[in-house]
Amino acid sequence: MAKLTVRDLDVRGQRVFLRVDYNVPLEEKDGQMVITDATRIVATLPTLKLLMEKGGRLILTAHLGRPKGRRDATMSLKPVAVKLSELLGKPVTFVDDCIGEKVEKAVAAMKDGDVVLLENVRYHNEEEKNDPAFAEKLAKVAEVYVNDAFGAAHRAHASTEGVARVVAKRGGKCAAGLLMERELKFLGDELENPARPFVVILGGAKVSDKIKVIDRLLEKANTILIGGAMAYTFKLAHGQNVGKSLVEPEHKRTALDAEAKAKKLGVNFQLPTDVIVATPVDTGKVNKKGKPVFDFANIRTVTGDIPDDAEGFSAGLETAKHYAQIISGAKTILWNGPLGMFEDARFAAATNTVAQAVADVTQKNGAKSIIGGGDSVKALNKAKLGDKVTFMSTGGGASLEFLEGAVLPGVAALSDK
Ligand code: 3PG
Ligand code: MG
Repeated sequence: MAKLTVRDLDVRGQRVFLRVDYNVPLEEKDGQMVITDATRIVATLPTLKLLMEKGGRLILTAHLGRPKGRRDATMSLKPVAVKLSELLGKPVTFVDDCIGEKVEKAVAAMKDGDVVLLENVRYHNEEEKNDPAFAEKLAKVAEVYVNDAFGAAHRAHASTEGVARVVAKRGGKCAAGLLMERELKFLGDELENPARPFVVILGGAKVSDKIKVIDRLLEKANTILIGGAMAYTFKLAHGQNVGKSLVEPEHKRTALDAEAKAKKLGVNFQLPTDVIVATPVDTGKVNKKGKPVFDFANIRTVTGDIPDDAEGFSAGLETAKHYAQIISGAKTILWNGPLGMFEDARFAAATNTVAQAVADVTQKNGAKSIIGGGDSVKALNKAKLGDKVTFMSTGGGASLEFLEGAVLPGVAALSDK
């Protein structure tokens, strides 16, 4: 059933508890935490502006990282408040806790259209436990609940789920923000009855991570193009050599079953025909996380068996061109997961070729291209094609679970229209 959205709300003079996903990447520079990608903050601006215009008093709550119930200065939302204020062109009051007297005081001073951002809600471990008493404390300062945190909607936490229940019990409204609404539209409704051909590109490391999505999309897609390391498990299942490639031998059956289902349903199911491999060489060095650093020798393209000393790092160019050809005829595209280790330029060509094909068919043929979050979004942005597709999800795990057909707790908790 359709959910209530912020468009349906009259919030003049009301205090709105607004859950956002400001879990943005940060880097330490000269002792300061600096935001390296503000996409998730920018994505909430339409919701904020609409509610401000409507005269609501916005109390923003978010998490950052996984501090596990402890105050960790590297995970403070303070830099986010600064950035948000810049983007809105108006002051944002930052409160260094999310419950208690400080919050009540700041909220009491608010006027219509004002914005307050509360400190990382995960500094309290009751958040992830969805503790009802904690949810009551969070909800104490507001009469309306809005969730715009699609990226955290797969979590049944106090601020994503519990607070909505408290507000609803009091007879208050719980609505989706505009970003949440867009995410549900593109990852949900638009894929229910897609314009055809509907082509799905699925990459990523593991078959086990993606099998539920594959299974569900086999029911809807005309074509599924497989890339990423999960292709090596398919290769292994076909009895080919995979060398040192990442595989899940325990999922050979899963892979074969997916192929059989595709055949039965008449879905064109494509696997890479060539692979870029390299021989990993231990440099003897370790990275910041203490993991050994490898160099890659003898980078080459192979078809068929992968030699024993080699590891696959990307689909090859023959595959990429073939996939691009199929993509060029699509009317709807869903892309989740890169075709290789695109972070390294030596293994980025296939992913970039597909990114370009998706951008081209969107721009030239008016195809709808939906990018299912996470690494595929990073790859498109890296290729400077982010603004050439129809929609890029701000979710990672949430997008994947939603595409699997799961009911997201943060969505289920909202009021029906
Ligand atoms: C994300 O970045 O994937 C979301 O903000 C959720 O964060 P989490 O995986 O730590 O719950
Ligand atoms: Mg996550």
